[in-house]
Amino acid sequence: MTAFSRESIGLQGYGCMGLSNSYGRADDAASIRTIHRALELGVTLIDTANVYGAGHNEELVGKALAGKRDKVVLATKFGLRLPSDPEERRVNGSPAYARARLEESLRRLNVDYIDLYYLHRVDPLVPIEDSVGELAKLKQEGKIGAIGLSEASADTLRQAQGVHPIAALQSEFSLWERHVEADILPTANELGIVFIAYSPLGRGFLAGSQPTEADDRRHHHPRFQPGAVEANAARRATIEAVAARHGVSIAQVSLAWVIARATVPIPGTRHIAHLETNLAANTLALSAEDIAELEAAFPVGSTVGERYPASALATVPREPVAQAG
Ligand SMILES: NC(=O)c1ccc[n+]([C@@H]2O[C@H](COP(=O)([O-])OP(=O)(O)OC[C@H]3O[C@@H](n4cnc5c(N)ncnc54)[C@H](OP(=O)(O)O)[C@@H]3O)[C@@H](O)[C@H]2O)c1
Repeated sequence: MTAFSRESIGLQGYGCMGLSNSYGRADDAASIRTIHRALELGVTLIDTANVYGAGHNEELVGKALAGKRDKVVLATKFGLRLPSDPEERRVNGSPAYARARLEESLRRLNVDYIDLYYLHRVDPLVPIEDSVGELAKLKQEGKIGAIGLSEASADTLRQAQGVHPIAALQSEFSLWERHVEADILPTANELGIVFIAYSPLGRGFLAGSQPTEADDRRHHHPRFQPGAVEANAARRATIEAVAARHGVSIAQVSLAWVIARATVPIPGTRHIAHLETNLAANTLALSAEDIAELEAAFPVGSTVGERYPASALATVPREPVAQAG
């Protein structure tokens, strides 16, 4: 086991969601090779969740980590509805649900301990004190090493921290999604909570990737609809210009910007070549001028399209959104 800390997770982690058919089809054998390559290249933070592929992702990660458990900081999440749940509620942060889902995750991952256990979304029906109180008990029992929240507001972070130290906040953060800068990121920094940036490549858009396969869920994302794509691509030209100056890929510039904001990106990819490119961002030093140019091209709230389809948007803190045209 490796205790979660800013030092133990390095500059970048690896997000496994896309290995369970989110953004096009993935192949398990290739996915395991990609996870192994990430570890070889020094990645320690491995991010999964019980809902990714309805358990498939945790099982896959469990297979990949067989005999390698001590090399990783293993993070998983609970709280979003699983197809097997009898209740319709989309988010469940109740103490009994936390405890039951953890046992399942431990079985699927084939481990006896999770290094960082997140509440995937804050439950509007359960006081955060109750959710975090139960996670604190699970920590005391030695089943988890640290407590994380995902997509929590600044107020929720403060309330949660009053119950037990929160080790990490995982929320969406990238050049095209900067809403956390107003309140959430400063609060995390003030409270000593490590900020983990999910979808740091804008679900591939900021790396130049577009959905091509029919079952890619980005087809349902507002930012990937006609009109939005063209408007957002015009902004992406600035990333291309900075990348050309440095002789690197746009994925590297996008990730180097996230790292420059003292947050920890967890990009996902099904391809070893992309993984290697992404990790090279750790040594790309953007100048103050580069950063200013990038931020001027992506002012907060300027990206066209909501960051999630309506149903998923209901579970995250709201922010202003620009319109196409
Ligand atoms: N807490 C939450 O609610 C939450 C929500 C979403 C995600 N997450 C976590 O965050 C992780 C990352 O987020 P994400 O997967 O949504 O988005 P992301 O990392 O921003 O983007 C992933 C997409 O970028 C493409 N890509 C990656 N590197 C590339 C490169 N160098 N060149 C071209 N394309 C590249 C991938 O395609 P290829 O596979 O073809 O490379 C994939 O389509 C997830 O795996 C998950 O662990 C958490």
